[in-house]
Amino acid sequence: MSFIEYRQMNAFEKLEALRQKAKLGGGEKRIVSQHAKGKLTARERVEILLDENSFEEIGMFVEHRCTDFDMQSDKYLGDGVVTGHGTIDRRLVYVFSQDFTVFGGSLSETHAEKICKIMDLAIQNGAPIIGLNDSGGARIQEGVSSLGGYADIFWRNTKASGVIPQISAIMGPCAGGAVYSPAITDFIFMVEKTSYMFVTGPNVVKTVTHEDITSEELGGADTHSSISGVTHFKAPNEVECLQMIRKLVSYLPQNCEDTAYSHSYSIGSETREKLDTLIPASPNQPYDMHEVIEGIIDENSFFEVHKDWAENIICGFSRIGGRSVGVVANQPSSMAGVLDINSSRKAARFVRFCDAFNIPLLTLVDVPGFLPGKDQEWQGIITNGAKLLFAFSEATVPKITVITRKAYGGAYDVMNSKHIGADVNLAWPTAEIAVMGAKGAAEIIFKNEINASNDKEATWREKELGYMDTFANPYKAAARGFIDEVIFPRETRLKVIKAFKMLENKVSNLPKKKHDNIPL
Ligand code: HXC
Repeated sequence: MSFIEYRQMNAFEKLEALRQKAKLGGGEKRIVSQHAKGKLTARERVEILLDENSFEEIGMFVEHRCTDFDMQSDKYLGDGVVTGHGTIDRRLVYVFSQDFTVFGGSLSETHAEKICKIMDLAIQNGAPIIGLNDSGGARIQEGVSSLGGYADIFWRNTKASGVIPQISAIMGPCAGGAVYSPAITDFIFMVEKTSYMFVTGPNVVKTVTHEDITSEELGGADTHSSISGVTHFKAPNEVECLQMIRKLVSYLPQNCEDTAYSHSYSIGSETREKLDTLIPASPNQPYDMHEVIEGIIDENSFFEVHKDWAENIICGFSRIGGRSVGVVANQPSSMAGVLDINSSRKAARFVRFCDAFNIPLLTLVDVPGFLPGKDQEWQGIITNGAKLLFAFSEATVPKITVITRKAYGGAYDVMNSKHIGADVNLAWPTAEIAVMGAKGAAEIIFKNEINASNDKEATWREKELGYMDTFANPYKAAARGFIDEVIFPRETRLKVIKAFKMLENKVSNLPKKKHDNIPL
């Protein structure tokens, strides 16, 4: 449209023309190029993310104010980010979606102001904020104004933490300091092959460490979902990514003073017989804890977080009796379910999120202890294991624990034991609650007798069996009230539903403090 054509329009026509222009972002050519990379545009993403026709845009006509490098002659309505609010399943959410077709989605001072405005509204009105990131980073022509804009966002991310759920999706590049906004938010999604995140890119890596590495290897979705644990979710494509975000939101409350939406549910007499046959005869044989989870929760309601990282612990959202519940479970089929640095970090962050947003916790325990070894000790298993202990201890939401098999040593205490504030502790008859495995225990406490024996192996085995008879069961703990009830596995679902119902109005306050000091 030429300037003369524009001048001849009436006021309504001008508004319509401006809207159409804004919707084209950086123009048709760049939209074609975006699609050619297998990526959607900022607006297409918003449309898929939100309920149909629910999006209300804010700041469509914002333009940058930069005059260096002749930038005053290169302006785009909206300045590279689409911001506003809409609904997911009819519940309010705020959204910003960076538009790569405008200066590569780079962040200018005004681009940052638009994001901050949306964040302020989200905090003020108590609704989740979702950021769809696709950006070349700081707008290079704007220098420090852009850096300041990033810091304004980081500061708000921190203020909003624990107040409203914050979700980030990486749908293109996200590099340099720009990674720190998603990193502060509660959940990160990445899209396979088209997104990457790193603090310094392959070129800088090559110069500094002489390593040859591609963007994908350094910071692609596979890397961050399975090696670093930076991303919580990995999606095969953008559409699935946006649908996964919708699903996540369905488990969450709007803010820290709200509770998550409950589906209607009436308690029936259903039992889950399959659970009775899950635990193998040998204590050293693995089984898949996912099957236990499925046997307790509402059908097909599990939404796993960090599925491919630290697989020795399982974390995820579920519905139990219609209600949103966070599940934390040792996974015997990965490293025997041992607690190590990564699994402790993973579960601690998940527990803290659930507690911050009033989501009750179900903990399933089959843990042989903490992972021994120089590697773990040198990298700080002490501090990292303490994170999980701290997270469970400070959580005031309703907390239920079910011990399915092993609960050994310090890991027994850590995995939401009665002693650190669990409300209801159940155990299956197959539970073994002890300081350590029977073999190791017998070796230590009967060392002299074993050494003095003519048949060391037989004596050791006899002592091992004796220790097992005493401790490889849940009844010692039940006798002390550390376990409230020993139950048949098939009863678990109903027991858990009733226990959460019983805890519905739980009130538990922490001592007055400015904030805690979790061992970071
Ligand atoms: C201004 C930028 C830009 C930027 C890209 N563009 N990044 N404009 N500032 N940071 C523009 C390009 O000039 C181009 O404009 C358009 O966006 C698309 O870029 P291409 O390079 O053609 O796209 P592609 O080949 O897909 O490569 C994407 C890219 C690359 C990998 C992101 O553009 C790139 O490396 N950009 C620079 C990244 C960078 O160094 N950013 C600063 C990082 S430091 P036209 O007009 O041709 O369409 C940082 C600090 C943050 O961000 C600190 C926070 C605390």
